[in-house]
Amino acid sequence: MYIPKEVERILFTGEQLGERVKQLGEEITRDYAGREPLFLGVLRGAAVFLVDLMRVVELPLEIDFIRTQSYVGTESCGKVEVDLMNVGNIEGKDVVIVEDICDTGRSLVEINKALKAKAPKSLKTVCLLDKPSRRVVDFKPDYVGFSVDDLFVVGSGFDCDGKFRNLPYIGVYSSVNNV
Ligand code: IMP
Ligand code: MG
Repeated sequence: MYIPKEVERILFTGEQLGERVKQLGEEITRDYAGREPLFLGVLRGAAVFLVDLMRVVELPLEIDFIRTQSYVGTESCGKVEVDLMNVGNIEGKDVVIVEDICDTGRSLVEINKALKAKAPKSLKTVCLLDKPSRRVVDFKPDYVGFSVDDLFVVGSGFDCDGKFRNLPYIGVYSSVNNV
């Protein structure tokens, strides 16, 4: 298996991720029975999660993408800009924000604010990972894959300066070997 030198250890294998995503899909399928939710993935980190999740949700759903910018390297710069891209009219829709991780919570607070202003019928958030110890604003995702400690992770969509998104697992990033 391809494990770059910057990956200190594997936190979740592809199998573990697949199993948990399947459970989340079942939960969402139950909770949204009879409805046709719109999944809004947050580019680029949540692209992998969205693709995995939507295929285990047994509902007539739609997908679209939005964008945020908040991170430089491994340090949050604190300012979040939300780009709703081409997302059209979401008034009256059951919107599910699909995000890779809730870290400080700033991105999801801003995303929720921007989308609420467009009057969806309902608005919920699903995150593959949650880092509750890093929170600086009050936010709790409705669905969480795994809660993790204050570690910087890469793989399965998670990047460090644009790299490692393609790893089929989630690993702990270490800059020690990265001269
Ligand atoms: P927040 O606004 O601080 O909650 O940060 C959200 C964004 O920071 C996420 O969408 C990720 O793109 C990025 N992020 C936070 N923690 C990690 C990590 O451990 N690895 C890679 N990206 C991360
Ligand atoms: Mg992100």
